[in-house]
Amino acid sequence: MRTWIVAGNWKMHNTNEESVALAKAIKDGVSSLKNGEVVLAPPFTSLYRVAQIIKGSSISLAAQNMFYEDKGAFTGEISPVMLKDIGCTYVIIGHSERRKYFHEKDADVNLKVKKALALGLKPIMCVGETDEEREKNVTRAVVGRQVKEGLRGVDKIDNVVIAYEPVWAIGTGKVATPAQAQDVHAFIRAILKDIYHDAAAGIRILYGGSVTADNISELIAMEDIDGALVGGASLKTDGFLGIIKNIAGEK
Ligand code: PGA
Repeated sequence: MRTWIVAGNWKMHNTNEESVALAKAIKDGVSSLKNGEVVLAPPFTSLYRVAQIIKGSSISLAAQNMFYEDKGAFTGEISPVMLKDIGCTYVIIGHSERRKYFHEKDADVNLKVKKALALGLKPIMCVGETDEEREKNVTRAVVGRQVKEGLRGVDKIDNVVIAYEPVWAIGTGKVATPAQAQDVHAFIRAILKDIYHDAAAGIRILYGGSVTADNISELIAMEDIDGALVGGASLKTDGFLGIIKNIAGEK
């Protein structure tokens, strides 16, 4: 069966000192994990420090972004080779904030996903519709396109994690209902099944968007929801540990 994942996306928060304190507190709070994985995605500047803290624990490290070349004259970019070197297992790709503020397109997401996989990093590929797109009833068209284009040319899906994050739910406190989320998760899995057949059943699809310890239990009870990508609530030890506990209790 699929192992659940709870990933904390710290976004552009935390100095090194703050990152170290949070990572230590989470490590102390996460003891034995049953069928699941906890992933921390600090900002680039804290990756090294957090890597040292979680070394030897059951927590994995993720970056929040990467570039799609190994090395070269790309001022300000970070290579997946560097991320591997520093201890990352996962990398978040195509987050809606990257798409919105940094104009990342499906084609960029695709290049990054392929490069991550080629170098042995597991991409957490984010997809999701905006408020306007949901209003216009084009959620499936948008999410379907993002999934297919993001995975174009990817032959082996096993190391890919998908995060469905409706843009209207991110950082807004407006969480999708379990039925709304399950509907899109099942739709994504059906697309994966068309392309990857039996392998689709093993792919983790995370929900993200205003997840808290209070709302996660009913979301995670849904058949195709395999975990959570958490922003705001991952910055507080109690909130994040509460989410982990509630997911571990359900799945
Ligand atoms: P949020 O962010 O939990 O603060 O809504 C989720 C995300 O952007 O991954």
